[in-house]
Amino acid sequence: MAGWWPALSRAARRHPWPTNVLLYAALFSSGDALQQRLRGAQNDWRQTRRVATVVVTFHANFNYVWLSLLERALPGRAPRIVLAKVLCDQVVAAPIAVSAFYAGMSILQGKDDIFLDLKQKFWNTYMSGLLYWPFVQLTNFSLVPVQWRTAYSGLCSFLWAIFLCFSQQSGDGTFKSALPFFHTKGSSAIKGSPEK
Ligand SMILES: *[C@@H]1O[C@H](CO)[C@@H](O)[C@H](O)[C@H]1NC(C)=O
Repeated sequence: MAGWWPALSRAARRHPWPTNVLLYAALFSSGDALQQRLRGAQNDWRQTRRVATVVVTFHANFNYVWLSLLERALPGRAPRIVLAKVLCDQVVAAPIAVSAFYAGMSILQGKDDIFLDLKQKFWNTYMSGLLYWPFVQLTNFSLVPVQWRTAYSGLCSFLWAIFLCFSQQSGDGTFKSALPFFHTKGSSAIKGSPEK
């Protein structure tokens, strides 16, 4: 295989913060571009740029700082510790990350009420996250071999990015709103209004 994976690991070790920011931005931007495609829409690159902006300015840094703090507060991989980390993550970090995404996107889209999406979609999205992230984290620590965990985390973040960007643009934050939509791609009957 090409040398990109060792190069990436080396970069992550030497410069963990910027590597994390770049990786996160890449995952979310591709997630957004892909969900636009799956909806059967023309790619709206301005929208993808907004997603990248929100993730670079907030989520990537928040994620990095939060995970470092969490690891310092609850070091190790003992089952009890992992459960405590999963719980903290869902109670503290998840609501902040979801809120910042909806509000941040609304600000960049110049919406009149930057809290409207947040009010309408927060609970659904948070509940969907509750069904998804603890499962991801527990399988990560219990089933996935150590050398695959970074890649597995990346893949899971990518899938979440697809769902979150879809929810922001056309869905309501439930998995139910996302699933049938991808089946009927091309029909734009339930198209959301991402602009204004
Ligand atoms: C998966 O485990 C690795 C440590 O082995 C950790 O760095 C990463 O944050 C975990 N990912 C998730 C989504 O829990």
